[in-house]
Amino acid sequence: MSKDKKSKAPKQAIGVDIGGTGIKAALVDVRSGELLSDRIKLPTPDGGEPEAIAQVVVELVGRLDDERTTPVGVTFPAIVRHGRTLSAANVSKRWIDFEAEAFFEQHLGRPIHFVNDADAAGIAEDHWGAAKDVDGLVILTTLGTGIGGALIYKGVLVPNAELGHLELDGHDAESRASNRARESEGLSYEEWATRLQRYYAHLEFIFSPDLFVVGGGVSKSSDKFLPLLDLKTPIVPATLRNNAGIMGAAALAVGL
Ligand code: BGC
Repeated sequence: MSKDKKSKAPKQAIGVDIGGTGIKAALVDVRSGELLSDRIKLPTPDGGEPEAIAQVVVELVGRLDDERTTPVGVTFPAIVRHGRTLSAANVSKRWIDFEAEAFFEQHLGRPIHFVNDADAAGIAEDHWGAAKDVDGLVILTTLGTGIGGALIYKGVLVPNAELGHLELDGHDAESRASNRARESEGLSYEEWATRLQRYYAHLEFIFSPDLFVVGGGVSKSSDKFLPLLDLKTPIVPATLRNNAGIMGAAALAVGL
């Protein structure tokens, strides 16, 4: 980008992070990653249907920018290819093969940048968080309802790495190793760590990364399970926590 274009580039953007249980948004300073507003959150409507989710997104964006001038980035927990959602692991099946970006643009009345949730979180951790100073291959995984994955090589995102859907011991990995699996099966952290060990050792063998970053709400308790893992690759908790998706979406909205 030329110096002139850079000075005209927007300095703020709105990030919206759509998850299985909540939809969060904030205004972000895209030069520093700092949140310029409170993080606002509304529950994800039951069933996760497109119209109901769009209404919530319109409400949140309207609260942050009623003039409709600020760039907007939106994350979604599915494969996103050229604005189209191609999967729906933990949301309504209506999102499969759905022109989601255009749909949100219609509802919001402005262009947006639409991206997979883990990819947005990976970009934010790479710019501003746990992977900031790491050169080489960074793999971010989010351990939540599902498992999200982001592959970032020297700052460049390889989109839609669906690392939660690798097969592990004959199962979809996220059905065994997500935080939801830990909670719903009542696993102790030690029991869960045995599954995480299998999972991360498998990822390590396939990709030989330089760093694993572990995100998702449970990463705030990472001292209970990360020290139990025995890997050659350093593995660290995400540092941006709940804000990573919002920050990454905002960054992508201005083309960072
Ligand atoms: C989806 C991914 C998503 C991840 C985390 C998985 O089930 O397939 O696209 O990134 O959950 O939300």
